[in-house]
Amino acid sequence: MTKPLRKAVVPVAGLGTRFLPATKAMAKEMLPVVDKPLIQYAIEEARAAGIEQFCLVTGRGKTAIVEHFDIAFELEATLRERGKPEALALLEAIQVEPGSMVTVRQQVPLGLGHAIWCARVFVGDDPFAILLPDDLILSDTPCLTQLADAYRETGGNVVAVTEVPHEHTNRYGILSIGRDDGRLVEVTGLVEKPEPDVAPSNLSIIGRYVLMPEVIGHLARMERGAGGEVQLTDAMAKLIGTQPFHGLRYEGRRFDCGGKVGFLEAQIAFALKRPDLADAVRSFLQNYK
Ligand code: UTP
Repeated sequence: MTKPLRKAVVPVAGLGTRFLPATKAMAKEMLPVVDKPLIQYAIEEARAAGIEQFCLVTGRGKTAIVEHFDIAFELEATLRERGKPEALALLEAIQVEPGSMVTVRQQVPLGLGHAIWCARVFVGDDPFAILLPDDLILSDTPCLTQLADAYRETGGNVVAVTEVPHEHTNRYGILSIGRDDGRLVEVTGLVEKPEPDVAPSNLSIIGRYVLMPEVIGHLARMERGAGGEVQLTDAMAKLIGTQPFHGLRYEGRRFDCGGKVGFLEAQIAFALKRPDLADAVRSFLQNYK
């Protein structure tokens, strides 16, 4: 029997340099796609997958993220007074169970692996999910739900994977693959940002993971990898051969909202899914052909 998946770590301590100047005084994760900040999509996806405990790894300038999940008492009272039940319902939907969200601080952004290590006390001995809020996935079944199902099926580490253009392997964590049934892929190796001529495949990890707690021990060695950062990919690679490790070709479309083009495309894709906006958006898009 696999241990139930109840915990998620959401790292939000990155600097967001690709989005300057917008991110000078504001967290990248608070940038909205249509009318919802990226971080809220991530938390909602986690809740849909059965996650009950959240750990945000924060840094300087990220307090708005924590505020976002708190009760806005005055705002709610004003909306109630003014008879705005729809707006009130939007705020109430954001709230998480009291005590279910904790934050830890990553004082210096030394890399994603270091950010996850900062959540080690929260993780303890339990399997845990990781969601990177700037990867936004539009799908019928939430991406983390798909991963959680694959975790119950395989009983070990599962990461969401997708094919990327061969010339872009040096932007991603890339898999060496063993058995592949077209959906689940056995991971036989992992390498962070390999150049295209040495990349073992063009199958890349995106920002959704279900990992076993043993990865924390490998992160604790603080070995620096690609870009001089403590890389999560390198620590995950050490689990291969000791525990089941699979990639899941998830159903859905992923938008890299950490970059401008992906962010802009996500606005359009998500707006076109909204009954209140789709017609207007389709209509104004005609002006840009
Ligand atoms: P990115 O690679 O997108 O880095 O991080 P970034 O700093 O946020 O953005 P750019 O590249 O400067 O524009 C992927 C995820 O890992 C988190 C980020 O917050 C984001 O969710 N992260 C990254 C940390 O929490 N700490 C780090 O040291 C690095």
